[in-house]
Amino acid sequence: MSKNVFYVTTPIYYVNDIPHIGNAYTTIIADVVARYHKLKGEKTFFLTGTDENATKVANAAAEAGMHPQEYVDRLAEDFKRVWQSLGIEYDDFIRTTEPRHVKVVEAVFKRLLEQGDIYKGKYEGWYCVPCETFFAENELVEGKCPECGRAVEWVQEENYYFRLSAYSDRLLEHIESHPEFLQPEFRKNEVVSFIKQGLRDVSITRANRGWGIPVPGDPSKVIYVWFDALLNYVSAVGYLADEEKFSSIWPADLQLMGKDIFVRFHCTFWPAMLMALGLELPRVLFGHGWWSIDGEKISKSKGNAISPAKLAEDLAAESGAKRDVCLDAVRYFMCREVTFGADGDFSMASFRNRFNSDLANDLGNLLNRSLSMVRKYFGGKIPRAQACDSELYSTIVQTVDATEAACDSLEFTRALEAVWQMLAAGNKFLNDKQPWSLAKQNKTDELASVLYSALAVTRAAAILISPFMPATAKEIARQLGILDEFASLRWNNAKDQAPFIPETQTFGPEPIFPRLESAAPADRAEVPKVSERISYNEFSKMDLRIAEVKSAEKVPGADKLLKLIVSLGDEERQIVAGIAEWYSPESLVGRKIVLLANLEPAKIRGVESNGMLLAADVDGKAILLQPDQDVPAGAKIR
Ligand code: MSP
Repeated sequence: MSKNVFYVTTPIYYVNDIPHIGNAYTTIIADVVARYHKLKGEKTFFLTGTDENATKVANAAAEAGMHPQEYVDRLAEDFKRVWQSLGIEYDDFIRTTEPRHVKVVEAVFKRLLEQGDIYKGKYEGWYCVPCETFFAENELVEGKCPECGRAVEWVQEENYYFRLSAYSDRLLEHIESHPEFLQPEFRKNEVVSFIKQGLRDVSITRANRGWGIPVPGDPSKVIYVWFDALLNYVSAVGYLADEEKFSSIWPADLQLMGKDIFVRFHCTFWPAMLMALGLELPRVLFGHGWWSIDGEKISKSKGNAISPAKLAEDLAAESGAKRDVCLDAVRYFMCREVTFGADGDFSMASFRNRFNSDLANDLGNLLNRSLSMVRKYFGGKIPRAQACDSELYSTIVQTVDATEAACDSLEFTRALEAVWQMLAAGNKFLNDKQPWSLAKQNKTDELASVLYSALAVTRAAAILISPFMPATAKEIARQLGILDEFASLRWNNAKDQAPFIPETQTFGPEPIFPRLESAAPADRAEVPKVSERISYNEFSKMDLRIAEVKSAEKVPGADKLLKLIVSLGDEERQIVAGIAEWYSPESLVGRKIVLLANLEPAKIRGVESNGMLLAADVDGKAILLQPDQDVPAGAKIR
């Protein structure tokens, strides 16, 4: 059988603690990728699991006063529960203490020993237990571990070695001839220089202290945990046990991991092991960045770790949204906030802001507005129309293609941005077509077509976001009255031009993401004192207008600034606004804002600004003002 399955893996986690948003990230991304490929109709296999034979796991068990086996059994179940509560749909969960894995590790060890890729030698050197890594003297930083800064131990042992040094040239050749192999590009360069520095053979056994996989024929030693752990990626899919299964799944299409375990382990040691075994190398190894919280490293000792499940529960309690939808908000934030590959920072303020502006506003508003008008004008039944408006339809088609290209190249931020641009286009379409005026003028056919089209955008969005936000996608489908068929829809169904059966009963609208109070409840802003009085005459000098945002983009080199083109009805002008920290450019297009229109022009960072946008100031954060009803651009504010 030949390979016909898209195979994606996460690292297997040390079971010394429960996942926080940092290490849940890899698993969330893997879940998004697996769901995306399934949605495209591909067979997929998504593997995760636990790394149980490590010294640090045995140490954690000792601290908990438990036998290591009892401890890992318990923690592995905890991990499974956490993944389940996060909506992670893996296909298999491998534990490295399982016989199916141990057998493969033993067999590989024997085989590589026989063929000379493993040999016996004396080891003397430094070992970092928390990182489970050997270091040379010159790699230490001030005598400490170069990775984690903790103390290292001097180890003197007779050990078995893996002949890594023999693979340098082949590794470099493979990297060069497979440009997709190591991603992102900037980390590839790190790998190349690491290999070019010269690879040393790796000691792959340790003294047996009662925990780990004993070396076959030499039980005084156990197999080094990384040699054991990396093999999970093949042992879980039938290597040496079920050749048919194995050849339908291996090589992996995408192996995901954090940057800390990318260069040395996954891009050097792992491919060299596969080469020694004569197995194909994975198609892509991707090393993502690390999350910090409020600018600080996530650490057990600081106690700043955030559990994604707890975050979702708190959010559900506060907002009244469903728990699984709140989890989707966490997934959305992590995929949207940071370019995949780069480091990212998690702050409650930016999370809450995205919840309000992207989810409650952009996504929620389009659905709520469309469905409430369907209820008001068509008794809640999908109106009769031939198909989606042709201009809006071409936006949908372009969005599907752009989102697909972005997902294929693992640019999740860009994928979601594309969907949000489509939502903005949907909101703008309603603003432009003014269905409420069509209703007043009894233009029922046109009204039906406008609302049908707006709903078509929400349906397309539901399909495209479903890998990222599965519960939300389902909830949109439920409110649209298409829940039954939704499970059988595929990615390309987002391009259906006549996606609804007219007269289908819709439900709601029920806001999926009820808005949160902008500031966290605990640190609500202080209300500043009202300034000195002015006369009406002074006030009337200000020409305040409603303006519509036509386009928005970042000002290059200025993190906080956006350049907007706004319409005042009969004229368009450019303004610069310091709101980039809180509003993405695409979330603004189509939105009505309040503008001080007669402020004298100024240049901000060299960019001309012809007017000033007004916003509420809450602890230095800008919150835009929006009219309560639809108001034409240019309307005066008095
Ligand atoms: N057991 C090894 C992996 C063996 S794979 C054959 C291991 N486990 S781990 O539990 O320490 O880390 C698992 C993953 O979590 C790694 O990809 C790591 O990069 C990731 N992260 C841990 N903290 C993180 C953040 N703060 N942010 C993002 N990812 C983080 O290493």
